[in-house]
Amino acid sequence: MCGIIGYLGSRLAIPVLLEGLYAQEYRGYDSAGIATIEEGRLNIYKSTGKIAELDKKIGGQYGSATAGIGHTRWATHGKPSDINCHPHVDCRQKIALVHNGIIENYQEVKAALQDQGHHFLSDTDTEVLPHLLEQYYQGDLLAAMQEACGHVKGFYAMLALCLEEPRRIVAARLDNPLIIGIGQGEYYFASDMSALIDYTREMIILQNGDIADVSDQGVVIYNQGQKVERSVKHIDWDKEAAKKGGYPHFMLKEIHEQPKVLAQTMQGRLQEDCRRVDLNELALQKQDLQNIDQIAIVACGTAYHAGLIGKQVIEKLLRMPVMVELASEFIHNDPLIDQHTLGVVISQSGETMDTLAALRVFRENGAKVLAICNVVDSTIAREADQVLYTMAGPEIAVASTKAYSSQLMLLYMLAFHLAQILQRHSDEQLNVWLKAMYQLPQLAAALLAENEETIKTLAKTISDWQDAFFIGRGLDYAVAQEGALKLKEISYIHAEAYAAGELKHGTIALITPKVPVIALATQEPLLKMMVSNIVELKTRGAYVIALTRGAAPEVEHVADAVIHLPETDELLTPVLSVIPLQLLAYYAALYRDCDIDQPRNLAKSVTVP
Ligand code: AGP
Repeated sequence: MCGIIGYLGSRLAIPVLLEGLYAQEYRGYDSAGIATIEEGRLNIYKSTGKIAELDKKIGGQYGSATAGIGHTRWATHGKPSDINCHPHVDCRQKIALVHNGIIENYQEVKAALQDQGHHFLSDTDTEVLPHLLEQYYQGDLLAAMQEACGHVKGFYAMLALCLEEPRRIVAARLDNPLIIGIGQGEYYFASDMSALIDYTREMIILQNGDIADVSDQGVVIYNQGQKVERSVKHIDWDKEAAKKGGYPHFMLKEIHEQPKVLAQTMQGRLQEDCRRVDLNELALQKQDLQNIDQIAIVACGTAYHAGLIGKQVIEKLLRMPVMVELASEFIHNDPLIDQHTLGVVISQSGETMDTLAALRVFRENGAKVLAICNVVDSTIAREADQVLYTMAGPEIAVASTKAYSSQLMLLYMLAFHLAQILQRHSDEQLNVWLKAMYQLPQLAAALLAENEETIKTLAKTISDWQDAFFIGRGLDYAVAQEGALKLKEISYIHAEAYAAGELKHGTIALITPKVPVIALATQEPLLKMMVSNIVELKTRGAYVIALTRGAAPEVEHVADAVIHLPETDELLTPVLSVIPLQLLAYYAALYRDCDIDQPRNLAKSVTVP
């Protein structure tokens, strides 16, 4: 996700800003920029690519500015380019602003501002903000910010400065982190603490709705128009820990980011009354769908496992055949696809070579391709006919967690969106599903809060295992495959996912005393069969950890340990059931002292076939 930096004090601002941007590089970005004010001039420096490119453009010409703001951009709206790079300015080029987050209602705000004569240069959502400030500016940047924030929906962490008030920076925070560092007569701003720790450990963590007015006279914070007090915290983290937000590994941080990511992926797409899903970025009309006789989902690894869920959900909602293939197989199988196939490729990085090759096979056979990607303007996103972006932010750990959850959310929303177009289900039924989907972020947060300690204890048991089976039926079988991959790739325990109904066709020969099995039993119509599978395993001495939805006393009676998921519609349960499996893998790897964020032999993006 984007990184923000700001400085107001007596040092030269540009070196401080550049250092702060370098310190936040790990957050992932595709361009960077800085704005400073000196001698009555607003200086803007921007560059796509690495911060080193920006540094080179500045070329050591630091001038005399002692106030400025900076930004590393992780593109969400508008491809990476100099013009889309922050800081953005108003028409008069007197106000500069940097922003981390998404302005959901930016199209309507932009149209209203254009009607008032404002001219826009970029295709970003952010650019509406400096123009809003300009619209409301009457000599007081704080008042303009307070007014502007009342006109935007979405989430933001932003800094603004104005040529007419050169010793003032105004900050605003809603749902995205923003820190103010307090030095000796100098003030720092950043998205996270790691960028400030070299300068100060005294920090104010802005709260939602806070607007901070910072000048040489100090920091004054307002919330809903009222002055508020925020305590200055002494931060004793080391720099490395600060990058992970205090978590020991990026993987654990990203597992815990999932409630926010689920909400972010729905924002602007699920209507507040949960009556409709609007994937506005998708240009698929009824006649296009009537020309489609199958959907083919192709991906690798975890993205492929997301596709397995997508298959079952889309087939259930649309009653249309959905094929799911591993990209590495698909490209060599002379697949049965044509212009009546809708190709769907899923890729967090948007750079996986096999998945890119699959996209090209679709195109060669006349099939339109929809990409589901996390990296804006990545190769796969660029080559697809249409793209839906997950809003997971940069995923640093090699083991994919929050990107998978975000992929699931998009696949659910795609299924609902297509079902709406084809009028496959009553509004009432869709409303039930959409309401359940809307609840998922808080259910995920509750699941993490209530189960992590139990799961950590179970992981201690698992960490002694050499082998493990994951079993399930239907959607649970698809999630079991992701659970097995997580355990394999970070704890190096051999794990196999198996359709529970298949055990008696051979694999149950491997079940001997103490062989561990993780049984997913969340699907009501299949529960009785899962209970009998667990009994079969227990009679052969297996150690069974079960995952169930709600109480499920019949499972309690037979399994050695049970993890209860929060109640939700069973169609949507995979979004929750994967979280305990991610935590089990994480803590098992921790107990086995594995290199969790960079497992042996693995890369975050497999750009070779
Ligand atoms: C998932 O934990 C793995 N890191 C890997 O399977 C990954 O999902 C796969 O390589 C696909 O990557 P992509 O989503 O970037 O295409």
